[in-house]
Amino acid sequence: MFVCVLYVYLNCLCVRRARCVAVMRGIVLTASHNPGGINNDFGIKFNCSNGGPAPDNTTNEIHALTTTIKEYRTVPDLSCPVDKIGVFNFNVDDRPFTVEVIDPVRDYVSYMKEIFDFPKIKALIQGTPERKPFNVLIDSMSGVTGPYVQAIFVSELGASSANVRRVTPLEDFGGAHPDPNLTYAADLVAAVKGGDYDLGAAFDGDGDRNMIIGRDALFVTPSDSLAVLAAHAAVIPYFQRSGVKGFARSMPTAAAVDRVAKDLGKEIFEVPTGERSMVPEAILDTTLEGN
Ligand SMILES: *[C@@H]1O[C@H](CO)[C@@H](O)[C@H](O)[C@H]1NC(C)=O
Ligand SMILES: *[C@@H]1O[C@H](CO)[C@@H](O)[C@H](O)[C@H]1NC(C)=O
Ligand SMILES: *[C@@H]1O[C@H](CO)[C@@H](O)[C@H](O)[C@H]1NC(C)=O
Repeated sequence: MFVCVLYVYLNCLCVRRARCVAVMRGIVLTASHNPGGINNDFGIKFNCSNGGPAPDNTTNEIHALTTTIKEYRTVPDLSCPVDKIGVFNFNVDDRPFTVEVIDPVRDYVSYMKEIFDFPKIKALIQGTPERKPFNVLIDSMSGVTGPYVQAIFVSELGASSANVRRVTPLEDFGGAHPDPNLTYAADLVAAVKGGDYDLGAAFDGDGDRNMIIGRDALFVTPSDSLAVLAAHAAVIPYFQRSGVKGFARSMPTAAAVDRVAKDLGKEIFEVPTGERSMVPEAILDTTLEGN
């Protein structure tokens, strides 16, 4: 597997969730949006307990620690079946060591069903006698989002397998450059332009970048997606339950969401990239954020 996600839900709604894994830190092994595979890129991402990227002072501290490492040990004969769901116990140096292998797709889908109104989206995608189906084309670019896209759009929302592309994760992303933009997802743009599609979307190798295009391949910048979401937060079940106290965006995100905040009379926070922690703790859970 080329992507190893060791974190699941950091700020989870334990009460409502069938399952909740709270973790302290997460490590993601991935080439992200770069060409991957044995002759290409590889990287390590580190996330803090709030799920967000590690701030500079944390990565600086990690770097400083790496310069003082004098030795490290390996356990070459510990073999854990990471392709099997379950809890595996080992004894390492006379100490218990536990590995829990989870199904992140199942957890993610059930969390998404708490946030969004799946029956309504399903009705939209499938159409009704009065309204034709809302035709989507979703491209996972052979990255880790494939099984999620398959589960959500095909199994849950009833789209057909012709509505999803490249949903089988490949170690080298099939030789492609999995950056979902107008250059590297040009074939998706051409397909949406030439076909009867209402929406197209693509994800990068590890699923933290996306591209959204509308009818006739109208490009929607992520800054505008955030503003659209913010403007419609009142119809999203998660925000109906929690209410929305304000919006936050990082400094390079365009200010479209600021206009929405002003219109709705909500607070808006501008924070440095990755500094999610700078949004006041008390309102974090009820803040719609964009990177
Ligand atoms: C986790 O951290 C990585 C590396 O900084 C970042 O790319 C990713 O977006 C973070 N995940 C979330 C959910 O913020
Ligand atoms: C990094 O900075 C934040 C905010 O200034 C602080 O809360 C946190 O403890 C710092 N982390 C480390 C590892 O120094
Ligand atoms: C697409 O991403 C690549 C880098 O990954 C960049 O070189 C290129 O300019 C981008 N194209 C557009 C249209 O944003």
